[in-house]
Amino acid sequence: MFNKIAVLGAGTMGRGIAQVFAQHGIFVVLYDPNANAIKAAKQALGDKQALGQKEWNLQYADNLTDAVKEADLIIETVSENLEIKRELYRLLTPLLKKDAIVVSNTSTYSLETLAQQQSFAKQMIITHFFNPAAIIPLVEIVQLAETEQEITERVIELLLRCGKVPVLLKKDIAGFIANRLQAAVMREACYLMESGVADASQIDTAMKEGPGMRWAINGPFEIADMGGLDVWEKVTGHLFPQLDPNLLSPESISNKVRLGELGVKSGKGFYEYGDASVRDTQSNEREQKLLQIVKLKENH
Ligand SMILES: NC(=O)c1ccc[n+]([C@@H]2O[C@H](COP(=O)([O-])OP(=O)(O)OC[C@H]3O[C@@H](n4cnc5c(N)ncnc54)[C@H](O)[C@@H]3O)[C@@H](O)[C@H]2O)c1
Repeated sequence: MFNKIAVLGAGTMGRGIAQVFAQHGIFVVLYDPNANAIKAAKQALGDKQALGQKEWNLQYADNLTDAVKEADLIIETVSENLEIKRELYRLLTPLLKKDAIVVSNTSTYSLETLAQQQSFAKQMIITHFFNPAAIIPLVEIVQLAETEQEITERVIELLLRCGKVPVLLKKDIAGFIANRLQAAVMREACYLMESGVADASQIDTAMKEGPGMRWAINGPFEIADMGGLDVWEKVTGHLFPQLDPNLLSPESISNKVRLGELGVKSGKGFYEYGDASVRDTQSNEREQKLLQIVKLKENH
């Protein structure tokens, strides 16, 4: 039974994760030491809460002790920086109630790296949500051999109750399943753009109107079975030697970062985005489309 959940970090992911549990009737405290992050979270979640019929039991905190006090589950979703995460774990340790479960929403660190030398290591797992966390069903779960089995089972049960689709990995690996697959696609997309085969919008169109359509319904192995494994032996055999083997972050991304063109959050990335209100409208439209896809899948 989870009576109180503390979500640490009120950024993009913390807000969405807090929403998942709050709208399922669980008491959630969303903590961030940055007053601007709390303000933005209140605004964004207040708007969403107003659309729903049920009252959420959601509180905000800028004090870690208050946030963690008596919490059964602590969800760490602070910036993807090992020093920041470890410093937070250090502050957290004396505040944890006995039997509290700690999970991290890291995108890239292995659990072994995060749990190293933590007193709560056996009660720590990774729950990797996808953005927007309140809509995308997948949550990848990582445990270690020494993790207390009951911890993983209880978290999975909670996620299922909140309508999520947990996938428990058989091994601890950085990037998990889905981010490794996304990174592989991104490497080839950047290669195609940088070598002048197509521009960003052509590549995005090819993905959205092609493989992306069926990936919401079938995964790569189902698609290979449908196409015929003899065909896929040729596809992989002919194309693998021609795919980009680059081991560094693609130049087309690093150049943009150097220019401060970080995508939607800075108003410009591979595309141009309007001011904050235009971006909010675009984000709401995107979320509505995603919700429709989720609903369509639920009904079949
Ligand atoms: N953005 C994504 O698509 C995505 C998807 C899955 C997982 N993740 C992972 O989730 C985590 C958070 O990512 P995000 O995109 O929400 O980042 P973000 O930059 O939007 O938010 C991070 C928040 O952490 C806060 N923070 C920093 N230090 C803190 C501390 N000591 N205590 C509490 N809060 C602190 C910051 O003020 C900020 O509000 C990262 O580990 C990231 O890799 C991100």
